Amino acid sequence: MKIRILAIGDVTSPGGVSHLSQNLWAFRRENAVDFCIVNGENASLVYSMKEEQAKEMLAAGADVITGGNHTMRNLSAFSYMDKEKNVLRPCNFPTDVPGHGYAVCDVCGYRLLVINAMGQVHIEPVLDSPFTAVDKILKREEGKYDLAVMDFHAEATGEKLAVGYAFDGKIQAVFGTHTHVPTADACLLPRGTAYVTDIGMCGETGGILGMEPKGVVERMRTHLSYPFSAAKGQVRAQGVLIVLDTDKKVAVSIDRIEF
Ligand SMILES: [Fe+2]
Repeated sequence: MKIRILAIGDVTSPGGVSHLSQNLWAFRRENAVDFCIVNGENASLVYSMKEEQAKEMLAAGADVITGGNHTMRNLSAFSYMDKEKNVLRPCNFPTDVPGHGYAVCDVCGYRLLVINAMGQVHIEPVLDSPFTAVDKILKREEGKYDLAVMDFHAEATGEKLAVGYAFDGKIQAVFGTHTHVPTADACLLPRGTAYVTDIGMCGETGGILGMEPKGVVERMRTHLSYPFSAAKGQVRAQGVLIVLDTDKKVAVSIDRIEF
């Protein structure tokens, strides 16, 4: 059997959340998507995600929401993240941090392990090694899942590729998030893992990573805390559609999508 998994890149604003509410279920139907993962760490604009936005994205058609370096900045969402098993934060945070770093979900009768991990290179906070943390999860959950996918939230392209190759053949799909710019390297690695360095973003286009250029440029130029606001272009969702073969336990395709 083939399972079709949609992954949507970092939601950058409430506008991105509304876009998913208006379009995600239709995209899922048209493309026979069995399961959808959305990275929601910036859904409240720039920093973090509120409980209400997580609920809106789940209702919009996200089966799992993944996070990243901004996820744990919003203290008000901690109790919700503890309760909601399908809203993740990176698994390599210390173990006593609220929330969950992975989930096992039923997809067409198969147990899909969804892991969220964060890189350590040019990104803060610097968490535990993603290699070690993910290895531990695979060992702990051995026999309790059929297929696995991972959102690897990281800045450095080399680190993302290294994680992709490290888990080639062990995790059927490793896709990168965080940089908001989709990369052109989607491929199948030698042992059958679908890989892409970054799947892009979901939010207003025409700016810098979803933000109005002026504030970002001034912040970069002056090193002062100029405020960010959402860009003013058309809202788009970018990501990848991954097809997994449940018998061979490999990915058979990975294609960029946008709507
Ligand atoms: Fe991020």
